[in-house]
Amino acid sequence: MRGVKTWAVLKGAARLYTNERMVERAGGRFNLSDLAPIEDGAIVYSLRKVRGKEIPGEILWSGETKKIPKKFLKTRKQRDLKQKACLIPGLIDAHTHLVFAGDRSDEFIARMGGVTYDELAKKGGGIQASVRATRAVTESELFRIAKRRVTVIAALGVRGIEMKSGYGLDRATEFKQLRVMKRIEETFPEFYFRRTYMGAHAVPPGSSADAWINEICTEILPEIKARDLAHDVDIFVDDGYFDVSHATKLAEAAQRLGLGFRMHADELGNTGAAEAAAKNSALSADHLLKISRAGIAALAGSITVATLLPGTAYFLREPHAPARDLLDAGVRVAIASDFNPGSCPSFDLPMILQMAAVNYRMNSAELLASVTLSAAQAMGMKDTLGALIPGRRALFTEINALSFEGWLYTLGRWS
Ligand code: NIG
Ligand code: FE
Repeated sequence: MRGVKTWAVLKGAARLYTNERMVERAGGRFNLSDLAPIEDGAIVYSLRKVRGKEIPGEILWSGETKKIPKKFLKTRKQRDLKQKACLIPGLIDAHTHLVFAGDRSDEFIARMGGVTYDELAKKGGGIQASVRATRAVTESELFRIAKRRVTVIAALGVRGIEMKSGYGLDRATEFKQLRVMKRIEETFPEFYFRRTYMGAHAVPPGSSADAWINEICTEILPEIKARDLAHDVDIFVDDGYFDVSHATKLAEAAQRLGLGFRMHADELGNTGAAEAAAKNSALSADHLLKISRAGIAALAGSITVATLLPGTAYFLREPHAPARDLLDAGVRVAIASDFNPGSCPSFDLPMILQMAAVNYRMNSAELLASVTLSAAQAMGMKDTLGALIPGRRALFTEINALSFEGWLYTLGRWS
């Protein structure tokens, strides 16, 4: 309360899920009892003004409505959910390719007819098709597209978004994407955004993988750091894209500059990418549809979060990632959308979480953590986001149901 002048009270949540019990636990395997919902719960959070907008600051208190300390009730900024909705930590989407132009519905039509993702990429479609579209639009048009998406995503309850570049490949377009992300961040100060540079999404036409990684490491990353364009760096390690030696080189260059490192790993084939992610202390290894036993063991002995993307397996018609095996081995698991124009055109994180609930054999504590606390960890924010406890940033989501499971079941859409 020290120094806090304005605050708000949100009370009467049918159930409040704080994630408090999961905060102190290592690994990713949680018990149902770790959910520990508080009946008739409340949160108190500070308010701050950013560019004229009054937005939540940090959590000052959370607990039962009837135990709210008296000093916090001395405010008119109180809202009562009347036990008709629940509160969970703000949903976090730790893997999106939010800022791109164009769509690839033509490829979707072809894939419905049986053409594969790989075949389309080999014919100059896939990532390269979105690169052409993203290069062709102006920065203000790209911003307009991204802003509209964020507005819709926020209405789904998402409060934190990781966004990658990677549909420019050349320096100018990649920087255009990153500047759009910065503007998005300034436009929506009430949410948390993580900016990732993914020049190593594909080899730019006319270049080679070796030459491009070299240029990124020696010329582009230092400039990104100097201009504060990105927090982290990502690379697509897979057959036909980049290999683990490129990943190691990129990780070293990124980390030397104080940038975080993450990887698209073992998605289309197994190239030992999960092992490379673990060895290079990546914040997260994402996809993992084709991860091996050795890859699972490597992640289990590392700080790397496994970020699983069930929407992508679904859209690619591929078997799901081995979520249960990862959790049982002690790996921390996050679930994200992978929103992109090719392999997952959906940014509906609640729906994607429901896909995980159906396919992954995770319990509800593990599922809630995967889109809050563990997603925060995948973004390098494990001590700041993902829980409704004092000192954490006040990102919260109201869910239209009487329990988290009740919401997961209907996504609050008919409850
Ligand atoms: O995460 N795997 C690489 N990148 C995206 C797909 C990119 C695209 O098809 O445009 C993914 O699945
Ligand atoms: Fe992706």
